[in-house]
Amino acid sequence: MDEQVRAAALRLGDRNEAARLAALALEQPLAWIFAHGDEPLDPRLIHRFAEMVDRRAQGVPFAYIAGRCEFFGRDFSVSPAVLIPRPETEHLVEWSLELPLPDDARILDVGTGSGCIILSLAAERPNWHCTATDISKAALAVAAINRERLQLPQVRLLHGSLLEPLDETGFDLIVSNPPYVAAGDPHLEQGDVRFEPEIALTAGPNGLELIGTLMAQARYKLAPGGWLLIEHGYDQAAAVCRLMRDHGYESIESRRDLAGIERVTGGTKPAC
Ligand SMILES: C[S@@+](CC[C@H](N)C(=O)[O-])C[C@H]1O[C@@H](n2cnc3c(N)ncnc32)[C@H](O)[C@@H]1O
Repeated sequence: MDEQVRAAALRLGDRNEAARLAALALEQPLAWIFAHGDEPLDPRLIHRFAEMVDRRAQGVPFAYIAGRCEFFGRDFSVSPAVLIPRPETEHLVEWSLELPLPDDARILDVGTGSGCIILSLAAERPNWHCTATDISKAALAVAAINRERLQLPQVRLLHGSLLEPLDETGFDLIVSNPPYVAAGDPHLEQGDVRFEPEIALTAGPNGLELIGTLMAQARYKLAPGGWLLIEHGYDQAAAVCRLMRDHGYESIESRRDLAGIERVTGGTKPAC
């Protein structure tokens, strides 16, 4: 295997990634690959490894090849039907967990994708009443697999646009990592995003189209004093704050990610 991993490392320009793909193909821990590199291997496994290296060399994201991705300390199934959960989004989860919410709070995640946000919140706060929506049935199917794997049957998954599938009001917290990339943004032609669903990425000519509608709908669905937290693009914090003010939210602030970029903006519906 040593020889194949060396060749793959050369092709991918990344020895660690080559070893991780080998671990995946052989269904062994990474340490096994380094410790047993000289062992003869079943040709079928070598073939499987070669196929994975080919896909990765074509740019297919590692998470799609693996079919999984870690988020907030848990393993999530992913497929090309969903956005690959990003580390930046963990700030949205952290902020949600810091809020002074009731023990039996009602939480909504809009555009849930793999379910990474709402299922992390439900796992951390088992008494919260958690609901999520997505316009993509294929994405909801992945979220349902993750709900099952994480044994969180209490989380409701609803199909439809933004908050439209919901009859009820009175949410204590609404969170969302909506599509926010401007259509035609050159970043869409680079790296992993080339393989991610467009419906998970783009929203109108400036990327803010869905965020404005989400704010308007959330204003009706939140309880007085309830919170709305939205993840957005690296250069959208000022525009999102302005939109929140225009929609009548209070206590508006933006939080930075580990790179120091304002990534999540939140505000509250007035208490009366
Ligand atoms: C940026 S992805 C976020 C996925 C996941 N919440 C995460 O953070 O990894 C946006 C998600 O919003 C969904 N979406 C796009 N337009 C929508 C709409 N009008 N209503 C509900 N969901 C929508 C997409 O299908 C996608 O799953």
